[in-house]
Amino acid sequence: MTQEDLVLTDHAGPVATLTIHRPDKMNALNRAVLEALAAAVDALGSRGGTRCAILTGAGKAFVAGADIAGMRDMGAVEASAFAALGHRTFDAIEALPFPVIAAVNGFALGGGCELALACDFIYASERAKLGQPEVGLGIIPGFGGTQRLPRRVGLAMARELIYTGKLIGAEEALRVGLVNAVFPPDALMAAAQETAAQIAAKGPTAVAVAKRVTAEGLDRPLAGANALEVERFAACFDSGEPREGMTAFLEKRPPAFERG
Ligand code: COA
Repeated sequence: MTQEDLVLTDHAGPVATLTIHRPDKMNALNRAVLEALAAAVDALGSRGGTRCAILTGAGKAFVAGADIAGMRDMGAVEASAFAALGHRTFDAIEALPFPVIAAVNGFALGGGCELALACDFIYASERAKLGQPEVGLGIIPGFGGTQRLPRRVGLAMARELIYTGKLIGAEEALRVGLVNAVFPPDALMAAAQETAAQIAAKGPTAVAVAKRVTAEGLDRPLAGANALEVERFAACFDSGEPREGMTAFLEKRPPAFERG
């Protein structure tokens, strides 16, 4: 199986869709899948023209976790390399200069939940089940779950999910703020595509700056984070986007931002 078979890439104008494609193993993340995902993300970043991406899974699962069969015989050295590969791959998703929407079509467990958390936000199918069941296997989340989950749902809720390993349904995930919206299974991709198209019509530089500054500011005290906002707000004016966006408003027409 080639890398292109493990992660499928589809382009529809400015919206790209990446599909993790290992359905017979619930899209479990082994080295090969992670490397294929890293390559697909890298290709997407260097291609140009994409303004929003959707990440989903083939079949019944989004991703049912890191590959348990592959991890069972690991020692600490291999485990460290495996976790580092996961982190590098997920960090690359976060570093893309456009948003990535996770369309969670089914199980998003362990590494799958962590993968969704590395995306900008999550839309879920009514059938989705999310959770961090690692402690039941004698390990902790290793692809960012101990850090990104508390940042998304708060420390106490993240600890409860991680300590119990329980799976929660889409409605519960919505209630705790893990997912942004829930859709019937057949409507999930259309909803993600509609939101992606809305984002794609906005100023691409502005969206990229908004993605970076909301991430960078979160780890700073408020005063410093607000100072960062002022700096980045001002920097927007160095691109041609404000002139086009504001002129279009004043001329009562939709803006025509250049494709980046
Ligand atoms: N790693 C490796 N293989 C996995 C996997 C994982 N994380 N999750 C599922 N699979 C494999 C199963 O072993 C099975 O393979 P097989 O057909 O060769 O036996 C196949 O995917 C289908 O899974 P199955 O368990 O038969 O499907 P199900 O519908 O009964 O249950 C899950 C689905 C997701 C609830 C169940 O597979 C599961 O609990 N997976 C592990 C979840 C987990 O602990 N993830 C965290 C890992 S750190």
